[in-house]
Amino acid sequence: FVPQILKGKKILITAGPTFEAIDPVRGITNRSSGKMGYALAHAAACAGAEVLLISGPTALDTPLGVHRINVESAADMLNACLPHVAETDAFIAVAAVADWRVDSPATQKIKKQHADDVPHLSFTQNPDILHTVAQQPNAPYCVGFAAETENVLEYGQAKRLKKGIPLLIANNGPATFGADDNEVVLLDNAGEHPLPRQDKAQLAHRLIAEIAKRLTTK
Ligand code: C5P
Repeated sequence: FVPQILKGKKILITAGPTFEAIDPVRGITNRSSGKMGYALAHAAACAGAEVLLISGPTALDTPLGVHRINVESAADMLNACLPHVAETDAFIAVAAVADWRVDSPATQKIKKQHADDVPHLSFTQNPDILHTVAQQPNAPYCVGFAAETENVLEYGQAKRLKKGIPLLIANNGPATFGADDNEVVLLDNAGEHPLPRQDKAQLAHRLIAEIAKRLTTK
């Protein structure tokens, strides 16, 4: 039995990597597995929320009771989120969104030329989905994740303020990608709240409880 602490609440979650096309057969992505975001979607649904999961390409099954929209690029992910923002109580950005996309992806497969003739790609900055959502009028309660490799707390708080969000969940770098467990610190206005290393599924229930608590005192 899970307490229905999110009953009547609408939760929007992004998860997984994004995929930025180079041409119709190639692209750039990252090592995010989607496990943490999917675990949060599952935990939020168990807690009684109506959950919309906007997911980049992953190998994971949709958690029971969760509505899922599949996207590839960061631009698609933002476009999929925006129509739902006004009706959302909490937005949890877990996706590992690519910072850059290829300027103008080729419409046909780029052919190999001579041995020393390599294609040169140029990049454009992707939109920051979390920041964009946090700036909307009547924005939902926004939660971010940050993987840092050093100065986790200092960089984390700076990132939280820069993104304009009340809660940031910081973890120690790429070690968590694909792993089944995670060790995080919650960063909010009151300071730092470290949680013990635990299974992502268990951690997700704890984080949902923390978010639910903050939602009611918002
Ligand atoms: O700036 P950084 O990528 O470290 O921030 C991580 C947080 O911001 C995560 O919550 C991630 O989902 C979100 N993010 C986003 N759109 C981006 C980049 C990051 O929503 N373009």
